[in-house]
Amino acid sequence: MAKSQFLIDAGVEHPIICGPMYPCSNPELVAAVSSSGGLGVIQPISLTYVHGYDFREGLAYIQSLTSKPLGMNLLIEKSSKKYHDKMLEWLDIALDMGVRFFITSLGKPDWVVEKVHQYGGIVYHDVTETKWAEKAIAAGVDGLIAVNNRAGGHAGQQPCNHLLQQLQAFNLPVVCAGGIATRAAYQDALSSGYQAVQMGTRFIASEECSASMPYKLAIIKAQEKDIVLTERMTGVPVSVINTPYIQRQGLTPNRLERWMLAHRKFKHLIRTILALKSLKSLKDSLADEKGSHDYWQAGKSAGDISSVITVQQIIDELTDNTDT
Ligand SMILES: Cc1cc2nc3c(=O)[nH]c(=O)nc-3n(C[C@H](O)[C@H](O)[C@H](O)COP(=O)(O)O)c2cc1C
Repeated sequence: MAKSQFLIDAGVEHPIICGPMYPCSNPELVAAVSSSGGLGVIQPISLTYVHGYDFREGLAYIQSLTSKPLGMNLLIEKSSKKYHDKMLEWLDIALDMGVRFFITSLGKPDWVVEKVHQYGGIVYHDVTETKWAEKAIAAGVDGLIAVNNRAGGHAGQQPCNHLLQQLQAFNLPVVCAGGIATRAAYQDALSSGYQAVQMGTRFIASEECSASMPYKLAIIKAQEKDIVLTERMTGVPVSVINTPYIQRQGLTPNRLERWMLAHRKFKHLIRTILALKSLKSLKDSLADEKGSHDYWQAGKSAGDISSVITVQQIIDELTDNTDT
């Protein structure tokens, strides 16, 4: 069978991306996914701030664990010049070290596309609806990652089939992000027209992910109804497990935060404050083996996950090694 455009673009064996995850993308997880024939994606803030690597050294470490292709995520929202300059520096290092597949989220990816294409690389952009896809395509991206309403992290609003119907019109490869943890869901996504899947939650409950055991067990225990959307993390809905911490915090911003979010002048400031607070809390929760920091992101596919297994087993279960 002819290879899909995604398999050609990513240079991998299976159409499976382990999506970038702050704070869960530890180097061993990223490398294990690539070694197993999928695409491991580096989340640079996770690599440096959570897992403590200098970016170049962290990437070199991942490359010492696998010789297979890797991807890298760039959250390109222009929140500050300092952050933008850091992203630019990380992008240059990644290109210098041979990374050729990039996933951009938020913002306008034109400057990433321009740089990456000079190296013969590829850029796919996260989208939740048509208007973002149109902007990304105008910026020259090579593919779209369709983030649906079951995804972990920043969830979309639409079910995966609606999103596909709209995005297929653009004639670019489309990847399904959200809700995939079983072979049936994986096969449904591919047979409906998606060229690949991007999974996060399933890979947290893997042996190679360095998340704490209480976090992994909470994913195993969670049913779909236990996954809720909170706006307290960044001002826009993020999927989390409904733990006592989340219940204490509430799901919506307080009055002052709401007021600031509604005013153009303060919107960026309050989103930055909320995000910085969350980055720290999520980092603390990741490694807390007592489980007392129970601030845990996960998508609705948690309801389909019942074991902690290796990355290779996860990929084998999905593919049965028949789709190469
Ligand atoms: C814990 C967690 C953290 C995430 N962090 C990011 C991130 O930093 N950048 C990003 O583009 N997507 C992020 N995502 C989204 C994933 O890359 C992926 O698209 C999503 O998990 C797919 O949905 P699933 O969890 O149902 O498999 C995150 C998801 C999870 C579960």
